Order: sequence, then C-alpha cells, then structure tokens
Amino acid sequence: MSSGIDIIECDITRLECGAIVNAANRTLLGGGGVDGAIHRTSGPGLLEYCRRLPEIEPGVRCRTGDAVITPAFSLPCEFVIHTVGPIWRGGYSSEEELLARCYSSSLALAVEKGVTSIAFPAISCGAYGFPADRAAEIAVGTCMMLQERRMSPERIVLVAYDSWMEGHLDRALRERMNRSLGPS
Ligand code: APR
Repeated sequence: MSSGIDIIECDITRLECGAIVNAANRTLLGGGGVDGAIHRTSGPGLLEYCRRLPEIEPGVRCRTGDAVITPAFSLPCEFVIHTVGPIWRGGYSSEEELLARCYSSSLALAVEKGVTSIAFPAISCGAYGFPADRAAEIAVGTCMMLQERRMSPERIVLVAYDSWMEGHLDRALRERMNRSLGPS
C-alpha cells in the first residue's frame, strides 16, 4: 500500500505545491528558522497581510495548535498555512497533542481551500526543541490517519532541512506503514 506521503530534504520555500506550512509564532509577524525563510522569500506583502489579521488576544493572532491560511505572495506555492507548534517543556504540558493539532488544523484548512498538495516543515523541531524522533512519529501518524479518512489533500510532503531529520521521518513512515500492513 503506497502512502500519499512523501519525505524530502529541501528548502520548503522552493516548493511549487498548493500550500506550504509555516512553523510560526503566535504573533504571526515572522521570526527565524523556516518562518524567517518564508517571510524573506514571500516578500513584504506577507508581513503586511499578517499584521492586518485580528489579534485574538494582545499580541496573539494564532494560538498554539491552530492554523491560519494566507496568500503566498512571491513564494512559488499558492498558499501559506501558518501554524504555531508547542514549545517542548518536557512532555507534560500536552505538547504531543498540540503538535498533532498543528498538522490536523493545517490539513483541515487545506481541504477547505481545495488544496491538493501540502508541504510541512518539521514543526517545533528547531527553536521549540521538540524531540525529533517523537515529532516525526506524530507528523507521520496524524497525516496518515487523516489521509486514510480522506480528510486531507491527496499529496502530503514532509520536508526535512537536513539528513538527520529526514532519517527520523523516513523511519517513522516505514514503521507506520509496517504497522498498517499488519503482522507479516
Ligand atoms: N525549509 C524547510 N525546513 C526548514 C527551513 C527551510 N527553509 N528552515 C528551517 N527548517 C527546519 C528546521 O531545521 C527545523 O527542523 O524547520 C524545522 C522547524 O524549526 P524552526 O523554524 O526553528 O521552527 P520551530 O522549532 O517550530 O520554532 C518556531 O522559531 O523561527 C521562530 O518565529 C518562529 O518563534 C517561532 C519558532
């Protein structure tokens, strides 16, 4: 059974898919890491657009685990879906559930907009310090579950920015595929 999930190592800002996901912070006003790369490549229009989005509480335009979709401006993709991953604090503050929600919230928005292909970076695995092996399992598990339920775009790409993260994603996908094939 082939999965509609691909794993690639690349700069997500170069992908021409329907939507790329940004590992943003709650202000949606940019930052470092993939957030910085996306804002640099999109041009100033994205920041101006985000600045006009309503604050749901002072300084917050997107809560952890939620997602917001915007145009992509000068990026080659059609949309950017901004989601805010959990900061890893040891695993006892619902970090795993919140990370899974980043994927499901982003996939729901993509389906709503009729997007047929979506690319995710390794949300929370950089500045937010989430353990890469566990994050990879959550990313693969959430995406495969929603794809099996036809609640996601046909094509999902999980993007690694280095071979170390790609290894974690490859292993998580292989283990999940073996589990769904059942005992050999
Ligand atoms: N393409 C793909 N992946 C990238 C890119 C890129 N151009 N740049 C970085 N990454 C990878 C990192 O290597 C990491 O694996 O994205 C993953 C997420 O790392 P961060 O960008 O640091 O995101 P996160 O850990 O979720 O922290 C978010 O950092 O940049 C700020 O504003 C952001 O406050 C927020 C926090």
